Order: sequence, then structure tokens, then C-alpha cells
Amino acid sequence: MKMGVFGSGSVGQTIAARLAELGHDVMIGTRDVNKLKEWQSSNPSVKLGSFAETASHGEMLFNAVSGAGTLEALKMAGESNLGEKVLVDISNPLDYSKGFPPSLLVSNTDSLAEQIQRAFPKVKVVKSLNTVTAKIMVRPREVANGEHTIFVSGNDADAKAQVTALLRSFGWNDILDLGGITSARGTEAYLLLWVRMYDSLQDSMINVKIVK
Ligand SMILES: NC(=O)c1ccc[n+]([C@@H]2O[C@H](COP(=O)([O-])OP(=O)(O)OC[C@H]3O[C@@H](n4cnc5c(N)ncnc54)[C@H](OP(=O)(O)O)[C@@H]3O)[C@@H](O)[C@H]2O)c1
Repeated sequence: MKMGVFGSGSVGQTIAARLAELGHDVMIGTRDVNKLKEWQSSNPSVKLGSFAETASHGEMLFNAVSGAGTLEALKMAGESNLGEKVLVDISNPLDYSKGFPPSLLVSNTDSLAEQIQRAFPKVKVVKSLNTVTAKIMVRPREVANGEHTIFVSGNDADAKAQVTALLRSFGWNDILDLGGITSARGTEAYLLLWVRMYDSLQDSMINVKIVK
């Protein structure tokens, strides 16, 4: 499948490499393709392009842009290129301007995922993967043999089914559908806890498991 990944950081690189490994036709979108030239030499099947070219390339899209830059990047991607595609939103609206711990740029009665959905009403936004570090996103079995939980939030049932199938191809078994896109308020705010767990454990290879 043709995949478009917005973001040149560790998440964009990790998602793109894993998608390519699974046989997908992948393009990474960035404002400056030169910064990824060296990375591309060890990932030659991944194409590089602008945000607009990447939106146009992908049948499924991934947002791995910083929280603060997300809406600007998606505007650059272009409403017509985004169309009615599924957008897996991995971003977190973290504000590190006052150092650690970060605060949230949006919270309580709103979320970045909802802001994206409102800005691009035709796009099928599915919030997922934002609650784990990049390496776990694509290889969940590297922690506790995959016995831990990943969340999906979104308004479109078919889009969530497509994303769930993709998550399974990454190795996820325990996938919890939290409901509509407003439920992303919870998974984004969870980062306030995640950064504290990381600080206590000094380890990013961590996740939670929902038990009853
Ligand atoms: N790091 C993790 O393990 C992890 C885990 C869970 C969730 N997340 C979330 O995933 C996202 C990506 O994280 P990351 O650490 O890979 O990278 P990052 O440093 O948070 O973001 C880098 C990307 O943001 C883009 N960007 C920043 N400001 C922009 C602006 N004003 N306009 C357009 N694009 C802009 C950059 O574009 P250029 O390429 O053009 O410079 C780059 O592609 C973040 O939202 C983060 O909170 C990260």
C-alpha cells in the first residue's frame, strides 16, 4: 500500500522504515529533504518529498510532526491532497518551552487530534501510537512479549478497522478502541503521566496493560 509519513524525526523515520520492511511503498514528508539524505542511504526504498508530495503519494497517512507544528505541516500538505484519507495521528501536543516536565498545548475539553479533525473534516483522523516510544510503536513484542495495550480513537469505524489491521501487522495484539476522536483527550493527557514514569524509571521501553 502507498504510505505517506509526515515528519523527519525519530518517529517518522521509525514508522517509515517499518512500513517499508513490511513491503509498503513509503514516502516521508519534510520541509527539507536534505536532512534525511544520509538516513535514506540505509533505507533506499523510502522516498523523500514535501508535505504536499507525501500527502498526494499516500493512500494512508501518518502524522509524526511535533505537536506545535502539526497544523502548519498539514496545511502545507494541502486539503485536496489529504482528501478523505485515513490519517494516523501519532503527535503529542507537548510544550517544553519551560523545560521538564512539559505541559500540554491543548487539553481538557479539546485535543490536537480534534483540532486536526476540525481543520480537515473530510480526513479520517485516527489517534494511535502516541502513548509509546517510537521503537515500541513498530515492534511491541520487544517489551513483555507484546503483552501491553495500544489505544485507537476516531470517528470513522472503517478507518479504525484499517488502522487496527496495520497495528496487528506491526505486532500489536491488545488494541483498545476508546471510541470517537474526543477520546484522544485522554491519550494525549496521558503523556503527563508517561513523562513522569520515564523520569522515574529512566527507561522509554515501557507501556501499560489494561487488566480487568
Ligand atoms: N519520539 C517519540 O518516541 C514519540 C513517541 C510518541 C509520540 N511522539 C510524537 O510524535 C511526533 C514526532 O516526534 P519526533 O520526536 O519524531 O519529532 P519532533 O522533533 O517532535 O518533530 C519533528 C518533525 O516536526 C516537523 N515540524 C516541526 N515544526 C514544524 C512546523 N512549524 N511546520 C511544519 N513541520 C514542523 C519537522 O519538520 P521538518 O522535517 O521540516 O523539520 C519534523 O518533521 C511528536 O508530536 C511527538 O510528540 C513521539
